[in-house]
Amino acid sequence: MTDTIQEASPSAMRFPDSVAFNGFFAPVRIEADVYDLEVEGAIPADIDGAFYRAAADTQYPPSRKEDIYINGDGMITMVRIKDGHADLRTRFVRTRRFELERAARRSLFGAYRNYFTDDPAVAGIDDGNANTAVVWHGGKLLALKEAALPYELDPVTLETRGIYDFGGQLSSRTFTAHPKIDPLTGELIAFAYNSSGRPDNEILLFDISPSGVVTRRQSFTAPYSSMMHDWLVTRDHLIFTFSPMISDYERMKTEPQYFVWDPSLRSHVAIIPRRQGVGGIRWFSAELAMETHSLNAWSEGDRVIADHFVARSGWFSQFPKTTEGILHEAPPIAHRWTFDLSEGAGAPVSDGPTYQSHRLYDCPGDMPRVDPRFLMSKNRHSWIGCLDLDLGPMPDFGPMGPPFNCLVHLDDETKQRTPFFPGPDSAPEEPVFIPKGPDAAEGEGYLISVIGRRKLNRNDIVILDALDLGAGPLATLKVPFRLRYAFHGTWVPGEELP
Ligand SMILES: [Fe+2]
Repeated sequence: MTDTIQEASPSAMRFPDSVAFNGFFAPVRIEADVYDLEVEGAIPADIDGAFYRAAADTQYPPSRKEDIYINGDGMITMVRIKDGHADLRTRFVRTRRFELERAARRSLFGAYRNYFTDDPAVAGIDDGNANTAVVWHGGKLLALKEAALPYELDPVTLETRGIYDFGGQLSSRTFTAHPKIDPLTGELIAFAYNSSGRPDNEILLFDISPSGVVTRRQSFTAPYSSMMHDWLVTRDHLIFTFSPMISDYERMKTEPQYFVWDPSLRSHVAIIPRRQGVGGIRWFSAELAMETHSLNAWSEGDRVIADHFVARSGWFSQFPKTTEGILHEAPPIAHRWTFDLSEGAGAPVSDGPTYQSHRLYDCPGDMPRVDPRFLMSKNRHSWIGCLDLDLGPMPDFGPMGPPFNCLVHLDDETKQRTPFFPGPDSAPEEPVFIPKGPDAAEGEGYLISVIGRRKLNRNDIVILDALDLGAGPLATLKVPFRLRYAFHGTWVPGEELP
C-alpha cells in the first residue's frame, strides 16, 4: 500500500475536482467584516459575548489532489452579539505554514502531518494550521490543532499574535485540540501525543493554572502510536480511549497517509486518578471502536461513567486506507461506558477487564456539547448533532462523513429527546451553549449553531432556547455568503472580552 507523492504544477491555481474542494465544500478564503447581520426573529437582549468557531479553509490548491479536508488552513469566525445586534468577522490564522505558502503563492506542505511529502523549502517547519478548535483560557484566545502548538489570536480583531507554548512551559511540539477547562478550579487540563513531532508512544499530561502556569507535567506510555483526538475528564479521573488508528515513522517514508486503521489490534482504555497521577493508572480492554468526541464523564467512588460517541471503525472519511484495504466507515453513536476501577489492570491487556456499555441514543451523530459549567460532574442536559431520517432526508454527503440534519437535546433525567430540524438541505454544525448568566441553572440558556444551507450556498446562524429546541429559532442570523464547514467553537462572555 504505497502511494507516490504527487507534484502539482507550481503555478496551478485550481483546486482538485474532489468532494473536499467542490460545491458546498469548496474553499471560501474570504476574510470578511459584516456589521449588523440581518436577523429573522429577535436576538435575546440578555446575550452579550462572542461566538468563535474554527474551520479548515484551504488557501492554495494542495500539492496532492487527494488532500483531506482537515489539512486546510485555520479560518476563524467570530460573531459578536450585544444589545440585540450581531457583527461577523472571519480571518485566516497567520500560521508559519500560511505565511510561507502565501509568500510562495502555492502550497509547500504535502500530506497531513507527513513531512516526507513537504517541499524541501519548508524542511523542519511544522504543518500546524490551527484549524480545529478555539479555546478561551487565562484571557487568551487560542486556535488549536493537535499536530502542532496553539496559536494566540487577538479576541477582538482576530489578528494572529503567534505560536503560544505557555511561555516555553510545554515540553512538546504538539497540544490537544480538546483540552478541558475545569469549571470549579479554572484549570486547563490538557495532553499531547506524538509530542516529538513524529509517531511515538508517549502521552504527555499538563495541568495548567487559570493564569497559564503549568503546575504539573506527567507522561505515560500508550499501547501504540495512534490518533488521540478527544478524551474525557471527571473531577477525579482522566479517561483515554486508544484505538488502532496507527501512525508509524517507517511507513511515513513510503505511505503519505499519516494514520492507518489496523483492525487486527485491540482498543484500550486508560483511567488515571487526577490527584495521584499516572502511578495509579488502570487499564481496560475495549471493543474494537474509536471514540470520535466526548459528551461528559463523572466519577462515583470506584465507578467512572463516560458518555461519548463511539464508531465501530476508524475515521475513514479522512484516512481511508487501512491495513485491509478500504473498509466501510461506521457512523458514531452516543454510548455510556461504565467502569469499575477495582477491576482495572495495571498494564494494557488485550483480553482483560472491560466495562458496561449502552446506547444513549440510536441515531448516528457527533459534535456533542454540555453546559460547560457542569463538565466533569454528573450532568443532566446534552446537545448533539444527529442524522435522523424520520425528520428529513440526509443532506448530500460531504468530505467529513455523513452530515447531520438536526440537533437533539438529550435530557438524562426525563429521558426525553427533543430535536431541532432546520429544514431540508440544511446541515447544522456543532452547537455551542450560552448560559443565561453565571448563576443560571444547568441548561438554562441558549444554543448557537451554524446551519449550512446547501442549496442556497450560504449559512444561517440559529439561536435556540437550549431547553426548548422544538420551539425553533428565537433568532436566525443571515450570513450573506458561505462559511466553510467548521469543527469546534466556544462562547466567551462579554465581560471577559477586552
Ligand atoms: Fe474534535
